[in-house]
Amino acid sequence: MSLKIRHILLSGLVLLVLIAAFILLRSPAIKGEGPLLTEQIAESELIARGEYLVTAANCASCHTTNDGEFMAGGLAFETPFGTIYSTNITPDPETGIGTWSDWDFMNSLRHGIRPNGEHLYPAFPYTSYTKASDEDIAAMYAYLQSIEPVNQSPLENELEFPFNLRALVAFWKVPYFDAGALEPEPDQSAEWNRGAYLIEALAHCSACHTPRNAIGAAQLDAHMSGGEYMDLVSSGEYRVWSAPNLTSYDRGLALWSHDDVASYLKTARNDILESFGPMNEVILNSTRYLADDDIDAMATYLKSLAPVSDRSTAEPDAGLMGRGRTIYNLHCGTCHLPTGAGDPEMAPQLNRGSLVVQDENPASMINAILYGPHVPTPPLPPKWREVMEEYQYTLDDEEVAAVATFIRHSWENAAGIVTPEQVARQR
Ligand code: HEC
Ligand code: HEC
Ligand code: HEC
Repeated sequence: MSLKIRHILLSGLVLLVLIAAFILLRSPAIKGEGPLLTEQIAESELIARGEYLVTAANCASCHTTNDGEFMAGGLAFETPFGTIYSTNITPDPETGIGTWSDWDFMNSLRHGIRPNGEHLYPAFPYTSYTKASDEDIAAMYAYLQSIEPVNQSPLENELEFPFNLRALVAFWKVPYFDAGALEPEPDQSAEWNRGAYLIEALAHCSACHTPRNAIGAAQLDAHMSGGEYMDLVSSGEYRVWSAPNLTSYDRGLALWSHDDVASYLKTARNDILESFGPMNEVILNSTRYLADDDIDAMATYLKSLAPVSDRSTAEPDAGLMGRGRTIYNLHCGTCHLPTGAGDPEMAPQLNRGSLVVQDENPASMINAILYGPHVPTPPLPPKWREVMEEYQYTLDDEEVAAVATFIRHSWENAAGIVTPEQVARQR
């Protein structure tokens, strides 16, 4: 490297650090004073309320590993910038949040800031939790301080320079993070407002269902219109999953009735299909425990989201559809039926109503075909007579692309072409 380039790089870096220091110093003093909770409420009632809210916010899916202790952290999050690990949020004084005050906890959820002033990475979805009310954050704090403490040190994040500099998150926050509790919409019903609060402040559906830009920030004009998420497939490796469009777009949530949405969130099933993939954890750890009127409120709010469309216009040709039909009839039709209508004991319907099938981004549909859809049993009693096998060894990229295109473009479905390259990306 020439001396001049090195010089330019170095001064650039110094400038960045200076700006970072400036932003950091400008951060408002967010340390709270006085009691966080002004309401008079019995400790046991507060803890019970906190447990419900922590369930609705699904903290456990990210802070509890498969074979680990409850809320002791250690789950890996693969991001384009490296691996971030969730932390220990049990009340252990040494390795958890046992020494934190209620305001420390408040500042982490509302502002994404640690007690020592360090910025937290938005892999922790405080972009949603910031919308929770003071009272609810106080209740979650009371509950988390009441659970079993576990002495387990958090794993070190493995982030590349410069993403390992927490101060850089301060830059990110300026355009992309707005701290503050959700304000109710006076023109909407109490049910709608409750649903909005549950979905946006707690359940953080948008963390996966909203597209992100190159530096990991949600694209607000495309709220809930479909995003991507890295998660495990059955082989134990990380792959991209597409989280479909939940707006009232005709290939998104418009395909489902209010009852289809409510039943899916409450039981992992509806008349069309059963959950699989990353949604299993959302439903099994969180939404299925919610009260019926809260589930109804969530469905009411979701069904009200204005359509955001991403329709592609590409039409598959007859040759591709023909190849897809042959593969479908040979490998899939016995369970999903040649009409795609499915069977209550054998397989879900694919002919209409699957958001995953009609998603503009076919990643999750391809994962289901390559690795088999992971059913939510246990703990649920089995719904199907047989599980669907994985086709990663039976079908090559071209064949998977052809059969997926055939399903996406047959019957009442009208989604786009799947290319062999898109299948190769999921292998
Ligand atoms: C999508 C995954 C995810 C969910 C859901 C989630 N967290 Fe986290 N959380 C993380 C990650 C990852 C970190 C580490 C962030 C970092 O290193 O900056 C973290 C960090 C934290 C911290 C900071 C701890 C510290 O040592 O500074 C607290 C507190 C916390 N989470 C509490 C919660 C609570 C309470 C909930 C539920 C309301 C929750 N988290 C839900 C992923 C998650
Ligand atoms: C951790 C990421 C993540 C979160 C959080 C999440 N989703 Fe999903 N969702 C996905 C992915 C990935 C898919 C497609 C694969 C699957 O079904 O698991 C999906 C699929 C869906 C589907 C379509 C199912 C189908 O088979 O057609 C609905 C409806 C849905 N999600 C609703 C929600 C709601 C409501 C919430 C909030 C309560 C939510 N999701 C939270 C990742 C997520
Ligand atoms: C042995 C019966 C069987 C066969 C054969 C079969 N499937 Fe399935 N398929 C199922 C079952 C059962 C599910 C539901 C899994 C669950 O509970 O989530 C499913 C789910 C799916 C889904 C996810 C739908 C959604 O949105 O939830 C897709 C896509 C799919 N199958 C495509 C295929 C394709 C393509 C083939 C042929 C290459 C095929 N299946 C062969 C039984 C079968």
